[in-house]
Parts: sequence; structure tokens; C-alpha cells
Amino acid sequence: MANSIFSDKTRDLSGSAIRATFKLLADPEIISFAGGAPSPDVFPKKELEVIARDIFREKGNLALQYGITEGYTPLRDFVKDRLVKQGVIKESEQVIITTGGQQVIDLCAKVLLNEGDNVVVEAPSFVGGLNCFRSYNANMIPVNVQPDGMDLDYLEEEVLKKVKVKLVYAIATFQNPSGITMNTEKRKRLLALADKYDFFILEDNPYGELRYKGEDVPTIKSMDTKNRVIYAGSFSKTLSPGLRIGFFSAREDILEKMVVCKQVTDVHTPVLNQLIAYDFVTKHDYDAHIKRSCELYGKKNALMLKCMDEMFPTYCTYTRPEGGLFLWCDLPEKFDSQLLFKKGVEKKVAFVPGSSCMVDQAQKYSSFRLNFSNTADENIIKGIGILADVIKSFE
Ligand SMILES: Cc1ncc(COP(=O)(O)O)c(C=O)c1O
Repeated sequence: MANSIFSDKTRDLSGSAIRATFKLLADPEIISFAGGAPSPDVFPKKELEVIARDIFREKGNLALQYGITEGYTPLRDFVKDRLVKQGVIKESEQVIITTGGQQVIDLCAKVLLNEGDNVVVEAPSFVGGLNCFRSYNANMIPVNVQPDGMDLDYLEEEVLKKVKVKLVYAIATFQNPSGITMNTEKRKRLLALADKYDFFILEDNPYGELRYKGEDVPTIKSMDTKNRVIYAGSFSKTLSPGLRIGFFSAREDILEKMVVCKQVTDVHTPVLNQLIAYDFVTKHDYDAHIKRSCELYGKKNALMLKCMDEMFPTYCTYTRPEGGLFLWCDLPEKFDSQLLFKKGVEKKVAFVPGSSCMVDQAQKYSSFRLNFSNTADENIIKGIGILADVIKSFE
């Protein structure tokens, strides 16, 4: 396409299949396991209504005026204190507020990657991350996710020993899309590899606080003694994605460069939204709020798994996440999740086909992602039943 009006960077970029599936949600009859949104049932709407009203009454000028790029200072301090308490960052480190966690991926790619630079991504990975690296013309190298996280033997033997890698993109906890958590051993080894082969790690952790069973695993950033990790977090899944508030911490020079780039992207994250988030987390019990969300997601996760155990054919295997919003289902190779998806939509059930979560989207994949956070219980039961029939129809 020599005559394309579009830049080299964006010419081959197409809207994600997940976004395309959003259109299907308009059909009220479709039971969608395709989204990735938190449940509106846990949005603290009443509390936020009062907070927003009070902000306009008491801090209207602040809320409506330009703010500083780094973020609203009290919110930055809150996030920093929380991360320090959680052991993620040290007292000496800074936090920057961003417009969602997605912006951290974009800024990180912008400041670190030249066209053609190698970026290791998990296979499967988050479509927003993959599309971001695509938009910078980075060369993505997929590395499989095993039940305990990224395949680091493969990473070292087949990737790091052969090519120079600039960045590893890791969603180490309750991964989107697989729900898998990388174990502590692997986290330590990934850090050791980063040091040995001189690359950075983008630890993208929007789901880390959504644990409903099992024991916490230390973040990669918390064990990072050599400043290799750019740590990204978000309020999207713990408070509200519509507020568009994320944050990051990174070594000083990278952080400062990302701030400069944020300046030219959106100047700053909307002050009103930052004030709303800050007032909620300080005037209400944020931990209790997260706990309520976890209880809800834990129940929905258990219900979906129970239905799958009862209704899916035994050749289907799937993850049993201890947190987050997704689980990942693998079928024998002869299945094509794109065809399953088409048939599923005909029968009024939707999910995300595996290809959307892969570097090579044109390849056939038998796996798919299911989201359970945003579907009523009766529809989880009904939808999994329909999906089981759809799978069986391809036997
Ligand atoms: C792994 C991962 N990273 C980042 C994001 C971006 O979230 P937000 O920009 O809403 O904070 C998402 C959202 O689904 C995600 O799954």
C-alpha cells in the first residue's frame, strides 16, 4: 500500500477485534463474555455523586482549571504511600498519574522503542498492549505463558541468546487474557535475565488488587534492585474505568522522559476526575470497596468454573484464576476459535477468540478468553450452556 495516506506506523493497524465485538453488545439478547469491564454493580455511584457535587461547590476552580502533568499532588501522594506500604516501590521513588494504565504502555513504548526494536510479549497478551507496540512499529516476539507464567527457558534460549531485546511486557498477575499469575521464582529469574541481557520490564498490573483467593505474590517491581522495571497500575478495575486514572513509577530518567511525552499527549489527566478519585479513596474505605469487588468477582468466577466443569466437554482445559476478570480456555488444535466465535454469536453468546490476543492474528487458534465480571449469574449459567453446545457442534 505505497499510496496509503497513513503513516508507516499506523498503516497496518486495525481496530481490535474486542472493540468490534462491543458492537454486538448492543444486541440485548447476546450474552457477552467478551468484554473486560468491571461490574457496574460495584461502582460507588451514590458516594461519587456527593463527592462530585461537593467538588464543584468547594473546589470548582481547581477542578476546572489546567493541572500539572505529573498529576494532582494529593492523589500522587496517596498512590505513592499505598505502593510504598504494599512494598512495590521505595520511599525515594516517584509516582505519576496517567490517563488510564493504557497511557503508561503508550508512553513507555514512546520513550524506549525505536522502530524495529524487539519487544517480548506474552502469548497470549493484552490486545491494547499489542496494538500499542504495533503502532510504534516495534518487532514483537511472543513467548508462551505457562501455568506459572512466561516460559523463561524459551525466552533465554530462543530469544535473548539470539537477538537484542529492549523491553519485556509482562502482565504478571491475573494476566489479561489468561488469568495466570507468574510465580515468585520466575519473577526473580526475569529480573536476573533483565540484568544479564540488559532489557527493561514493563510490569502492567491493573488486576493485582483483585485477588479473591490464594496468597499474594510480590510484584516484580518490589524485587527490582537494578531499576529495570516500569510499574503500571490503574484505578480502572478497582474504582471506575470511566474516570481514566492510571499511574506509574519508574527510574528517574525514564519517568521524566515519560512526563515530557505525556505533556504533548494530553497535557495532564483531567483534574476533575483526579479530585473525584482522591476524595473517594480518602473519604471512604477504599480497601473495603475493593474487598466487595473481590467477593463479587470471586463468586462469579466460581460460578463460571462450576458451569464449565459441568457442561464443557472433558477435552476443554481452562485456567482457574485466583483473581482478576478473565479465564482462558484451550481446545484441541482442530478447533478454530474464530469459527466458534461466529457460531457463538449466531447462538447469542460472545467471547474473545484467541487470535485477538496474539502477535500473529492471522493464525488459527483454538483458545479463547472468557470474562465473568460483568454478566448476571443467570446469564453465566445460560451462556456457558450455549457455549458448551457450540463447542460440541464442531466435534
Ligand atoms: C493488562 C491491561 N493493561 C492495561 C489496561 C488498560 O486499562 P486502563 O487504561 O483502563 O487503566 C487493561 C484494560 O483492560 C489491561 O487489561
